[in-house]
Amino acid sequence: MQASPSPTAQRIGVPRETFAGEKRVATVPEVVQKLVALGFSVAVEAGAGEAAHCSDDAYRAAGAEVLPDAAALWAASDIVFKVRPPSAAEVALMRPGGLLVGFVWPAQHPELMAQLAARQATVLAIDCLPRTLSRAQKMDALTSTAGVSGYRAVIEAANAFGRYFNGQITAAGKVPPAKVFIAGAGVAGLAAIGTAANLGAIVRANDTRAEVADQVRSLGGEFVKVDYEEDGAGGGGYAKVMSEGFQAAQRRMYAEQARDADIIITTALIPGKPAPKLITAEMVQSMKPGSVIVDMAAEQGGNCELTVPGEAVVRHGVTILGFTDLPSRLAKQSSTLYATNLLRLAEELCKAKDGVAVVNMEDDAIRGLTVVKAGEITWPAPPLKAAPAPAAARPAAAPVAEKKAGGHGHGSAGPLPAKTLAILFAVAAVAFWFIGAYAPAAFLGHFTVFVLACFIGYMVVWNVTPALHTPLMSVTNAISSIIAIGALVQIAPPQAAANGRPDGLILWLAFAALVLTAVNMFGGFAVTRRMLAMFQK
Ligand code: NAI
Repeated sequence: MQASPSPTAQRIGVPRETFAGEKRVATVPEVVQKLVALGFSVAVEAGAGEAAHCSDDAYRAAGAEVLPDAAALWAASDIVFKVRPPSAAEVALMRPGGLLVGFVWPAQHPELMAQLAARQATVLAIDCLPRTLSRAQKMDALTSTAGVSGYRAVIEAANAFGRYFNGQITAAGKVPPAKVFIAGAGVAGLAAIGTAANLGAIVRANDTRAEVADQVRSLGGEFVKVDYEEDGAGGGGYAKVMSEGFQAAQRRMYAEQARDADIIITTALIPGKPAPKLITAEMVQSMKPGSVIVDMAAEQGGNCELTVPGEAVVRHGVTILGFTDLPSRLAKQSSTLYATNLLRLAEELCKAKDGVAVVNMEDDAIRGLTVVKAGEITWPAPPLKAAPAPAAARPAAAPVAEKKAGGHGHGSAGPLPAKTLAILFAVAAVAFWFIGAYAPAAFLGHFTVFVLACFIGYMVVWNVTPALHTPLMSVTNAISSIIAIGALVQIAPPQAAANGRPDGLILWLAFAALVLTAVNMFGGFAVTRRMLAMFQK
């Protein structure tokens, strides 16, 4: 069953992670098969997946070769898939001119970058993926890792907390639901909100970016606003450092939440900055004994003043968890998601499916990822040419309304020059006059309705934000039913018995209208079914 790789096919090697306590592995047996299908051969270091419950035998069965140690693995691999940044010893094992894919964090590791460059390596740092490119989402390992971590943070909190999450009424008494407060509703925060809400807790969350409020609510949380007007969006879906006034107002709100909450999970982070200190020592002191804080930003200095990175400590009766290895604590899940992200990247690198990776610097996603190219440091990548912040697309509906009010013809998509517009209007006016003067009265009535329908249809469809096109299908479905009725009346008019069959042209036009509208109706039903399926558990 194994595909025999072509002689030019490259070998992907997956070493055992050497960072202390790291349990993840860069690929899993299910993904090995798919890498082999792309034409690559795959080698895995013996025991690489052991801590993530992937045995050497499972890798072998999936088509990988298992090599005895790191030296053999690195020496035999054209491409190396890793999770953590390589150590100096690992870089020394790397084939000169080889390709490395994994987390690198170039800003934090300048010496590593220099070592990799000296090795003439090409390095794709998965943490440098341009996340605003929707095409790149399938490769976004930061998101999949943060999602796992947010989930695990809640599980760790539940483990350290001495009560149920959900409220219960039992013969032994009434148990109130736990109150969970989540600071920062990015990827990890949203995953934590969903998990805590599913466990039955009352969940509240805050973020400086107001745009996430709806996402918080959709996951079952309540968004708590800071009583101060300032937008925290810093572009690209990330936050910015807030003003002094905002920070003071935020501290007051957080102090209130700390007194009320049983569990606080903090995930607040501004890229390239130390984590904002949101939970002060006094706030910890004000919490009920037995409460829990999970500080996910511990590695960047922590959101809580009393966090000890990497450790669980008890301060003022409150357990503060500063674990920095949350994804590794769910090793099988993290490894599977990460392996899938790297598989999607491999598909982008090897579009010909011939087992040869091509690093195309013209591709925005690949350019962003490439931090070293054949020994030359190419990090940081230039900013993306057209990378609007995801939220920036939304307010587009407002300017359209303004333009309409102004009555000017500057359409949002390719406005026509005023002269062309004037000529078009003149031609249309002459045509209408001609029709008005010479067409029969009955035709004129129908024609007026037709023109108005075209105009309203245009306004309804073209001026609606693309995100709303799906709900719009329901409306067009209703319109389609009207068309269907109209067409049926034409095919078999009530007076048909008296007047005989309608003429052939009308019959065929009505038939065509029925067919076209049926496409719209059944398409609408199909889309609705798919949308409903998205909400089914
Ligand atoms: P993210 O950038 O998607 O989310 C951070 C959120 O914090 C953003 O929504 C931002 O608007 C918000 N924020 C920034 N400043 C704030 C403030 N002053 N007040 C309230 N909200 C604020 O990041 P992601 O991927 O969700 O990760 C969250 C944190 O978890 C990061 O610190 C990350 O390094 C950490 N992390 C920790 C892991 C561990 O094992 N401990 C594993 C994975 C992630």
